[in-house]
Amino acid sequence: MQAVLEYLKRNESRFIDELCEYVRFPSVSAQPQHRQDLHACAEWLVRHCQQIGLEARLCPTEGHPIVVAKTPPVSRDSRAPRRPHFVVYGHYDVQPPEPFELWKSPPFEPRIEGRSLFGRGACDNKGQNLAHFKAIEAYLKTGTELPCDITFVIEGEEEVGSSSLATFLKAHREELQCDAIVISDTGMPSPKHPALTYSLRGIAAFEITLHGPNRDLHSGIFGGTVDNPAMSLCQMIGKLRDKNGRVAIPGFYDDVQPLSAFERKQLARFPFNAAQYKKLVSVPKLFGERGFTPVEQRSARPTLEINGLTSGYQGEGSKTIVPSWARAKITTRLVPNQKPAKIMKLVTQHLKRLCPPTVRIEIQAGHGADPYLVSPTGPQAQAALRAIRSAFNCQPVLMREGGSIPIINEFKKILGADALLIGLALPDDNAHSPNEKFNLDCFANGQLMSAHLWQELSQD
Ligand code: BES
Ligand code: MN
Repeated sequence: MQAVLEYLKRNESRFIDELCEYVRFPSVSAQPQHRQDLHACAEWLVRHCQQIGLEARLCPTEGHPIVVAKTPPVSRDSRAPRRPHFVVYGHYDVQPPEPFELWKSPPFEPRIEGRSLFGRGACDNKGQNLAHFKAIEAYLKTGTELPCDITFVIEGEEEVGSSSLATFLKAHREELQCDAIVISDTGMPSPKHPALTYSLRGIAAFEITLHGPNRDLHSGIFGGTVDNPAMSLCQMIGKLRDKNGRVAIPGFYDDVQPLSAFERKQLARFPFNAAQYKKLVSVPKLFGERGFTPVEQRSARPTLEINGLTSGYQGEGSKTIVPSWARAKITTRLVPNQKPAKIMKLVTQHLKRLCPPTVRIEIQAGHGADPYLVSPTGPQAQAALRAIRSAFNCQPVLMREGGSIPIINEFKKILGADALLIGLALPDDNAHSPNEKFNLDCFANGQLMSAHLWQELSQD
């Protein structure tokens, strides 16, 4: 083990160069023009895995390819007990970088400043999955025996709903049979507070379009006689939230499992500073569901957000029109035991009720995912906590996260394995925002954590 840790230390600067290479691929899964870039990124990853001694292959899908890489088989006595097997899941696709003008340096030209590496995908998720690869490289290159088998599954469609991965998991169920899924694709509250996440929110996404006149109309000639779809849309979606920050859709909260007094007490101990948080997001005042703390609001309570709002003329100057249509992209974040399909039904019914007869409504459902919750008291969670503690030299915190990793429930359903979520992203890493970055100490400590993790998880 000493050799592994020393190898990681000795090769730190090369690892950073490799992360830069990885970030240089504009692997934006949401944008069709980047299809080739995703493919090139996956091929780079396969080559990289092969160089570090893994058996790697590129698996084509209907969407973007999946990279599968395994530790080489060890020859052993057939009477020896079964070796544990773990799957490491991550994604090489990234969110769109727009708006470009807010980046201090181009999103796909990685830049290092102090202990931060800037670039789209740096923390979400390239830096985090590369940390695991580097730990395995250290084992393989120093000839240190791994106490378990490891299979990496790195996909290219996480940011667009992981549409191909479930089919892939079903087709490779045998090969992927494992004791747990290890995922570093969440956050930690600060460099001094590494974390194990035991819950994620689910999601239900949809788009609502209101159709008005068959073309944009002169607002002087027609305005006042035909409904304005943008105005009606705003009025409708304005009714989806009440003044207490609650989602005003009948039945929305019906299946929400209330937080126990015990858990609220635990969450209250989470290192959170409201003043600092307010400064981080730069808002005049925080806002959330009344009766809950910000920590609860962003991880253990459901929400409804407008993600995008489009209608009419968006260019420079003015254009006096009644727009032909208006559209809102909306997502709800769900907590146990809400179900995306039921929520979609409630939302659709309610929006149809709210829609005036002067416009035509169209609702298109997007991706959905169940919320995730696992007990943090089991032996695997305890093993993970020990590995985190050794690597960061700090007491880890248990946390719930507000984001979603849609495929996590499929792992559970198809492979029967729970997930260990050990996130390495900091709150100011700007995931999904301009100037995304990854902290190089988190990168290095993440590698140490991974190196320790296989030992801890494998000793029963
Ligand atoms: N890494 C995130 C998920 C995440 C972020 C979990 C922060 C916990 C805390 C992942 O890449 C992501 O962004 N997922 C999307 C899923 C969506 C596109 C279905 C999300 O949460 O918005
Ligand atoms: Mn993401």
